[in-house]
Order: sequence, then structure tokens, then C-alpha cells
Amino acid sequence: MPYILILYYSRFGATAEMARQVARGVEEAPGIEARLRTVPAVSTVCEATEDGIPDAGAPYAELDDLRHCAGLALGSPTRYGNMAAAMKYFLDGTSPLWMAGTLAGRPAGVFTSTASLHGGQETTLLSMMLPLLHHGMLLVGLPYSETDLLRTRSGGTPYGPSHLAGTESNLPLTDEERRLSRALGKRLARIALALDRAG
Ligand SMILES: Cc1cc2nc3c(=O)[nH]c(=O)nc-3n(C[C@H](O)[C@H](O)[C@H](O)COP(=O)(O)O)c2cc1C
Repeated sequence: MPYILILYYSRFGATAEMARQVARGVEEAPGIEARLRTVPAVSTVCEATEDGIPDAGAPYAELDDLRHCAGLALGSPTRYGNMAAAMKYFLDGTSPLWMAGTLAGRPAGVFTSTASLHGGQETTLLSMMLPLLHHGMLLVGLPYSETDLLRTRSGGTPYGPSHLAGTESNLPLTDEERRLSRALGKRLARIALALDRAG
């Protein structure tokens, strides 16, 4: 069964909840499934002694998860208007796939969560697209036919779903944020299947 890899990092849970909503959207499309994977935090604990499996949540991603995906949804909380180091560190380790052009032509989308409304949702999303473009992936955003983009008073951008988590990182996803996250998953799933059928 082909799958969309939903690869995310989340420290306080907001981006993880978005990832689950993207997964629900993927699974609305028959014939393709969602695979949720996370990346370890960058820490002073040596990588070699870090537990191989996280205590809770999605398993850690391996290069093979990326190698065999039909499409990718990449999620990270913002860090100073940019993606988190943990996600950047993982992406920096994907050069074998980059050199081989493995991901070229596959669809990809991005999602993020921030503490403040103007704290860098768009810049984070755009920065997350850059390595995906280098990999030759086909970027998928959200069209304004998703009318939640016009109504939202929190997250949600044409560059990808976003979430306003608040300064305590405890605001739940709004209905608009949830629907837009699912819409990205569904679009990725449909586009991946169409590209697969086109050979
Ligand atoms: C080092 C650091 C930098 C951050 N930079 C920003 C920022 O530039 N803008 C913003 O709105 N939030 C910023 N935040 C807040 C997180 O992006 C926010 O808490 C995020 O929504 C949490 O997502 P998570 O629950 O998936 O970990 C920052 C947090 C940390 C720890």
C-alpha cells in the first residue's frame, strides 16, 4: 500500500496534533495510507545512547520511511521564524536521497505551529519548503477554495496549515485549523495517487 509520510517534530504537542489531522485527511482518500514519524530532539545526550524508540507518540523516522513514501507532509513548530533544529538536523542527513534524486517528482506539503499569530508562520512554512525543492519535490499548498482560509481568525495559510498554539502552547486546534490540516493530507494523498497512476 502506498503511503504519505507525515514527518514532524513537536515539543509541546501542537504540531503532533496537526500531524494527526493531516493523517486523517490522507486516510479519506482510498488506496493510500498515512505513516506518522517524528524525529528526536537535538540534545546534549549523545545520539548513540539515545533510546531508539520514543517514550510516547510516533516512532522515529528512518531514511527508508522517506525513501519509499509516495508523498510527504513535513511539520515543525516555529523557532525564531524558522523550522526547529531537530527537523533541520534530520533533513541534513538525507543527502543520500538527494544525491540519488529519490524524492524528485513526489508531492510534499508543510505545516507549522507558533506561539503568536504574527510570530513567523509563513516564514517557517517557506523555509521548510527550501530543502524539499532541492530534493525536487512538488510543493502542494492550500487553495482558497478551502474557504476556511478566508474565515480563520487563527492559523491557516495558502502555504500550508498552521496553528496558533498561544504563549502557553495550550490552545486546541480550531475547527478551521483542523479542517485545513486534513485538507492538506487529502490533497497530498490524491496527488500522490494521480502521479502514481500517470507512471
Ligand atoms: C527557542 C524557541 C523559539 C521560538 N520561536 C518562536 C517564534 O519565532 N514565533 C512564535 O510565534 N513562537 C515561537 N516559539 C514558540 C513555539 O513555536 C510554539 O510553542 C509552538 O507552537 C509549539 O509547538 P509544539 O507544541 O508542537 O512543540 C518558539 C519556541 C522556542 C522554544
